[in-house]
Amino acid sequence: LRQEAIEKISNVDNLSELNELRVSFLGKKGPVQGLMKLMKNLPKEEKPEFGQKVNVLKSELSALIDQKKIELEEKETLEKIESEKIDITLPGRKPNVGNLHPLNLITQELEDLFIGLGYQVIEGSDIVDDLYCFERANIPKDHPARDMQDSLYIDENQLLRTHTTAIQMVVLEQCAPKPIKVVCPGKVYRRDDDDATHSHQFMQMEGLVVGENITLSDLKGTLLFLARKMFGQDKEIRFRPSYFPFTEPSVEVDVSCHICNGKGCPTCKGTGWIEILGAGQVHPNVLKMAGYDPEKASGFAFGVGIERVAMLKYGIDDIRHFYTNDKRFSEEFKRFE
Ligand code: PHE
Repeated sequence: LRQEAIEKISNVDNLSELNELRVSFLGKKGPVQGLMKLMKNLPKEEKPEFGQKVNVLKSELSALIDQKKIELEEKETLEKIESEKIDITLPGRKPNVGNLHPLNLITQELEDLFIGLGYQVIEGSDIVDDLYCFERANIPKDHPARDMQDSLYIDENQLLRTHTTAIQMVVLEQCAPKPIKVVCPGKVYRRDDDDATHSHQFMQMEGLVVGENITLSDLKGTLLFLARKMFGQDKEIRFRPSYFPFTEPSVEVDVSCHICNGKGCPTCKGTGWIEILGAGQVHPNVLKMAGYDPEKASGFAFGVGIERVAMLKYGIDDIRHFYTNDKRFSEEFKRFE
């Protein structure tokens, strides 16, 4: 029995089998206990010696089992450490970090530029009253821009703003008769069919300065600064007469082509100039309606298309790229951050 037990204990290779062995040899119904029970049949003088031998066997086996238990526990711990080992020399996985959308890049660049000139950045609501989008902008009732075809109306009086000039009109009313120096970026909406150069929703940034003796030459200096920051220090701008109901005089502003530097190329259709925005002196009617005295205050305003600047600056040929969320497109702009 002793031999058999020793052999089995030494061959066991996991803790649960070892536990089974302990129970089967040393348990109440096991053979060692069985030997003890045999004692009562023995002659009296043999009992002490027999009992002693059984006890020795019992403690020998239980010591062997304890010993084996320690060995097995150690082995299991080592195996566990081995299997959970981490190779800290492996290169890490790079997290997938996003980047700014090109339209946000341009908006931020413009905002920074104007903050540097002492402007405040003001945003407004996308849904505006007809009053601020058109009426206060001196856009008469029969103006084509008021046609339901061009604007997206929510109800009789409210629509999605068709230009950031709607923010300008709110700012004017709130600030009159004090001076103003703000830029107002935001989304604008028009009832247009989308194609490579048109979108029913795009972004603009409005600039507005009002005060004493604010003139067209202040506007020109400001826009020259903008053009050079956005397209290069050697750029020039030119004003062409234009028409907007809310400015008088109104101008269309061109910047010398950033591709051919004014020499003439397909991008500027050989003219050397590229149209970048509309602007002008704030119309006296607009000032008056907002609460200014046009005899005392004057100002300039401009509205620049963010998509247009982004397309020129980054050489993008289709406006729809901005809205389709193709990662191959947006990731191109990581390097501009
Ligand atoms: N609101 C005009 C547009 O949407 C742009 C503009 C703004 C022109 C301010 C002059 C002054 O095209």
